[in-house]
Amino acid sequence: MFYTFNISICNINRGGGVWRDRIEIMDGDITKLDMDAIVNAANNSLMGGGGVDGAIHRAAGPELLEECRRLGGCATGDAKITKGYRLPAQYIIHAVGPVWRGGGQGESRLLASCYKRCFELAKAYGIKTIALPAISTGVYGFPKETAAMIAIKETKDAILEDQAIEKVIFVCFNPDTRKAYESALAEEI
Ligand code: AR6
Repeated sequence: MFYTFNISICNINRGGGVWRDRIEIMDGDITKLDMDAIVNAANNSLMGGGGVDGAIHRAAGPELLEECRRLGGCATGDAKITKGYRLPAQYIIHAVGPVWRGGGQGESRLLASCYKRCFELAKAYGIKTIALPAISTGVYGFPKETAAMIAIKETKDAILEDQAIEKVIFVCFNPDTRKAYESALAEEI
């Protein structure tokens, strides 16, 4: 009996720290955050655009576009990293989410892949604090609730595996996004 109790405590704290305590949901503008890295919801060209992508390029300055030009684009479901230039964040991870086409075109798998790649890059670059927007849920039309469930699930898996990640912030630009993350976080076990 006592032995079983000890095992369950070990599982909850696998490698130190309950995973939920390392996740935060906040409202605001991701470009203002002083994190090791912020994530951009980019497109295949990596040459900037509207939404959070436009905001990041404006705030980081023209040097960002110069570096992006040399990256040769990025496949959907993948991510590439650059410096943060004029941003408070040291790095920008540019993730390319899928356009929502009804759900039958591998959209969920591709979105999950974006998050996996973001955390792989975070690990490779020694990133301990990272902020993410709700990738694909703006112009690309991915349903917010499903996207939030995918984001939380992939983040949980990544931070359980990589104990070096201290803080993950989901940055919400509208109330619906916040609600979706709060529900997804409450429901994830
Ligand atoms: N901080 C945090 N979140 C933001 C900000 C901000 N400053 N600005 C917008 N959001 P979107 P997508 C939210 O459309 O759906 C671009 O043109 C926004 O409310 O930026 O992946 C790219 O170049 C939404 O919740 O990205 C691509 O062509 C979330 O960020 C395309 O849009 C994502 O919305 C990518 O579309």
